[in-house]
Amino acid sequence: MKVYNWILSACGIALTAGLSSCFQTATAESIDVDGALGYCHSKVVRSLDELSRDSIDYTMMPRNIAAGDSVWHCRKATPDEWCSGFWPGVLWYDYEMTGDEKIREKAEKYTESLEYLSQRPIFDHDLGFLIFCSYGNGYRLTQNPKYKQVILASADSLATLYNPEVGTLLSWPRNVEMLGGHNTIMDNMINLEMLFWAARNGGSQRLYDIAVKHAETTMTHQFRPDGTCYHVAVYDPKNGNFLRCMTHQGYADNSTWARGQAWAIYGYTMVYRETQDKKFLDFACKVTDVYLNRLPEDYVPYWDFDDPAIPNAPRDASAACVVASALLELQKYCPEEKGKEYKDKAVKMLASLSGDSYRSREHRSSFLDHSTGHHPAGSEIDASIIYADYYYIEALQRLVKL
Ligand code: GLY
Repeated sequence: MKVYNWILSACGIALTAGLSSCFQTATAESIDVDGALGYCHSKVVRSLDELSRDSIDYTMMPRNIAAGDSVWHCRKATPDEWCSGFWPGVLWYDYEMTGDEKIREKAEKYTESLEYLSQRPIFDHDLGFLIFCSYGNGYRLTQNPKYKQVILASADSLATLYNPEVGTLLSWPRNVEMLGGHNTIMDNMINLEMLFWAARNGGSQRLYDIAVKHAETTMTHQFRPDGTCYHVAVYDPKNGNFLRCMTHQGYADNSTWARGQAWAIYGYTMVYRETQDKKFLDFACKVTDVYLNRLPEDYVPYWDFDDPAIPNAPRDASAACVVASALLELQKYCPEEKGKEYKDKAVKMLASLSGDSYRSREHRSSFLDHSTGHHPAGSEIDASIIYADYYYIEALQRLVKL
């Protein structure tokens, strides 16, 4: 395993008082990145060992670990299981870090169990998460031409959800009637990355144009003046008129759901990278600053910034992971002082997540505890969730590469 002797900004540890009992959190401001990546590797090995105990089924993907459990609850990689790309993605990141061929072999097998998704009619916008976290990372590391074909086919499939009247991709075809129109959710910003990639790698220019238009339309309709976002926007599918905004996974239509804001930060940072259009950089900074200004002292948000139960509301470590990873990219594009602020805060987020309050340590196979999936549905509250682990290891790798 490569050794990274990085101990960043060793400024010490301050104990934060006054938070709910489970979060008498150490706000560490330093992180041993080498140790954190080693910790991730040990958890990957442990998870693979547990998954292999009977005969291994590469279509069963780790999804979450609920309170009282210690091993991954897996779900079948069906088209409606939006998280199936994250576990192969974790394996690819771990392989990238360690060069361990046994991990690569598992990464390939889990990834390839998703190939069929590129060959069937699309279920919803999450095809981007599914294919780009798995095949995208796999192609980045192996240049396997078969992987490229799967990504290109998936990008074309994702583009079939585009409505030119509206100017966005439809997120949930199954919910058009229930929501009263063409719906677009903030999470969809992440799926644009696969369209940009495809346009640069032999796909149609139209994929790039769709991604840019989606980002522009979302910027116009799905944010409040202060830069906080709504989870869902609904449009008239015939004339493209904007109808309303609402929430699906947040506390209320007018609240700020932490992971929705995290998707916006990550998404607009990536759109700036792909377009070099300064309006997207300015917007990425705006949606970031409002998020940073509302964080609690340990830099890990409550699941919704406006839950009246705060400070006794659950946290969402997954949002912190997504934002930490995004900030480590965004800081590169900013003037020096702003960039330093973003980098310092990303390090603080990762330090906090790497401390005893958030790490799963020995009691679970995951990297992290305390994520919240779908609070209004009572699902995955204060749990380990695979996408938190995915963005955590991605963020650590970004820090190492800086
Ligand atoms: N894309 C669904 C979520 O963030 O929970």
